[in-house]
Amino acid sequence: MQRKTLTQFLIEQQRAGDMTADLRLLIEVVARAVKAISVNVSKGALAGVLGEAGSDNIQGEAQKKLDVIANDILIQANEWGGHLAAMASEEVETIQAIPRDYPKGGYLLLFDPLDGSSNIDVNVSVGTIFSVLRCPGDCQTPTEASFLQPGDDQVAAGYAVYGPSTQLVLTVGRGVHGFTLDREMGSFIYTHADMKVPEHTQEYAINSSNARHWEAPVQRYVAELQEGKTGVRGKDFNMRWVASMVADVHRILTRGGVFMYPMDEKSRSKGGKLRLMYEANPMAMLMEQAGGAATTGRERIMGLKPEKLHQRVPVIMGSRNEVERVTGYHNDA
Ligand code: AHG
Ligand code: MN
Ligand code: MN
Repeated sequence: MQRKTLTQFLIEQQRAGDMTADLRLLIEVVARAVKAISVNVSKGALAGVLGEAGSDNIQGEAQKKLDVIANDILIQANEWGGHLAAMASEEVETIQAIPRDYPKGGYLLLFDPLDGSSNIDVNVSVGTIFSVLRCPGDCQTPTEASFLQPGDDQVAAGYAVYGPSTQLVLTVGRGVHGFTLDREMGSFIYTHADMKVPEHTQEYAINSSNARHWEAPVQRYVAELQEGKTGVRGKDFNMRWVASMVADVHRILTRGGVFMYPMDEKSRSKGGKLRLMYEANPMAMLMEQAGGAATTGRERIMGLKPEKLHQRVPVIMGSRNEVERVTGYHNDA
């Protein structure tokens, strides 16, 4: 059987009226950048890409060399193609304008160039997350305000996971589709059609070193999971925490589960740990498109109207039944 490439898949989607030619080009360019990041990630110490960059980003977090490399690759790949009005990155404080020499397009691209930075130096899976919005109004001079749209307005979202294989997982609002990088051929092959998150799960993901800082509804929910067969849930649950959101969400998209980085006393003053516009929103769109759910514990993530580019938000996402249960506990409280 002939294998379908990402390019063929995207052309078919365009012919079916599910995306514009410009959006197709945009996704092709992101995929090309992802391949370049994958090469750098996989070379590791051989290419001298491990370790600290010696700088801090806007979040006040120490940048790793690969954070900077991945950010540069994404910006350079996307700035000249003519499909974007502007970009925004976790690693850049202000919006990233398109250089004057290049034409502008109608889309906005946001990304977390390298997710799971703490895993780079220990050779554990990391990823890239991206979100695509339309540029409203006059796209000749987009501002930060142009980006502040709810996740419901995303036209596409996806991530790449740099694991034992490199996979690209994508939605343009018609289900979730997964592609695996064929390293010899240099192309993404369509390997995971119409991915669905199982409704039921017996697996959860949370950094329980924060347990004493959690709010009561999350403490109650996790305590019940840990009671297993002998508690109110009547079944045992397993726990997994990679500490790369991409890898944790990818596992959940593949075999179910619930991912939580909830509000806690440690991160309350910042609004949460994860970033709304280039971590929570694109992952929420993928989850909902795959039949799962994504909330802050109180509200749907994609319904939030962002106030700042680098805004943070509590995140609970994954198998619908579990997300609804833990969200219910918040609403009861
Ligand atoms: P980033 O590397 O882009 O800053 O994101 C890291 C995030 C996310 O990937 C992960 O789920 C979480 O931080 C891990 O947090 P802990 O170190 O608290 O486990
Ligand atoms: Mn991240
Ligand atoms: Mn990052």
